[in-house]
Amino acid sequence: TTPLRLGIAGLGTVGVGVVRIIRQQSALLEARTGRKITISAVSARSKDKDRGVPLSDYAWEDDPVALAKRDDVDVFVELMGGDAGPAKDATEAAIKAGKDVVTANKAMLAHHGQALAIAAESAGQVIRYEAAVAGGIPVMKTLTEGLAGNDITRVMGVMNGTCNYILTQMQATRQGYNALFDEADKLGYLEADPNLDVGGIDAGHKLALLSSVAFGTQVDFDAVELEGIQNITLEDIDAAADMGYRIKLLGVAQMTGRGLEQRMSPCLVPAQSPLGQLEGGTNMVVIEGDAVGQIVLRGAGAGMGPTASAVLSDVIDIARGLRLPTFGQPATTLKQARPAKAAVP
Ligand code: NDP
Ligand code: HSE
Repeated sequence: TTPLRLGIAGLGTVGVGVVRIIRQQSALLEARTGRKITISAVSARSKDKDRGVPLSDYAWEDDPVALAKRDDVDVFVELMGGDAGPAKDATEAAIKAGKDVVTANKAMLAHHGQALAIAAESAGQVIRYEAAVAGGIPVMKTLTEGLAGNDITRVMGVMNGTCNYILTQMQATRQGYNALFDEADKLGYLEADPNLDVGGIDAGHKLALLSSVAFGTQVDFDAVELEGIQNITLEDIDAAADMGYRIKLLGVAQMTGRGLEQRMSPCLVPAQSPLGQLEGGTNMVVIEGDAVGQIVLRGAGAGMGPTASAVLSDVIDIARGLRLPTFGQPATTLKQARPAKAAVP
């Protein structure tokens, strides 16, 4: 059998994690897929940076678009980030060039996922993005495969490791959230623009993607009612604790008589509940289906190993020949489901 050849654009926290797994687990990956998984070429901004993994075996491209179009690349792995710019340009180029795509980029998908999916699916290619939502937790596969026989009634959870880390550490260490940025950064949790994290936008991107898959609706990030954690103070945290609660950045998506409601905002949750006990960069996603009842998924929502684990799961799907549509059904069949944000009371 022929190897599955990757081109990886982005060699930061996630990209390096992916290179490491492919180098360290090549025999296991081959045993599980029946094919060798190899890296043909890589790209990042700085060629000379020491990234802690050997890269000399791989061709280097300064331009991720050129990488995406290479003849020796079967799957373009986009791990640069950004809702537009090089990530989107290179993803579009990869689709045009007949490549499958794996990405961890929820910002790009929340804004352009449907158009990208339509382009890929109409050409017989796939875009996979398990890592984009809740890091290492296999939530997209749970929805699109494990729970595919259910009418999903509600999806909710804590989906941003940075915010959960900051909120739990504020309580534990008595520091303000600004002081905790550096620690979250060291753990590899932060987006390149951390305002996306603390503003609730990153978690909102994830909720928009989850909603689409759960409810078969068009990805509609603008309909997510958003509030971040920037205004949460130690006094708020103490007042919540006095009443037996914790403050969590909680996302909820549910279908109502008025259409799909999507909210991401700081909420009080009982301190002793599983959500209240969630610490550090951990995420929790709760899914309710008509047949299965309630499913609770918990695990690392960010960081090198967990996120690379999710990227690999998509690469493995492609190596195995699993070619599921991006949002669990063909992107052209997703229905519109409002009300828009303004109509939600
Ligand atoms: P980093 O900032 O650590 O890495 C980004 C990488 O992309 C860097 O290697 C950078 O190059 C490269 N890059 C940026 N712009 C360009 C460009 N124009 N051309 C070529 N290369 C470029 O990001 P992360 O690894 O943390 O995140 C990557 C993606 O994964 C993002 O979409 C993020 O949202 C997502 N994600 C991240 C998680 C995490 O825990 N970190 C978890 C889940 C998803 P250089 O190193 O030379 O600067
Ligand atoms: N910045 C994100 C977080 C990375 O903190 O959860 C994982 O998507």
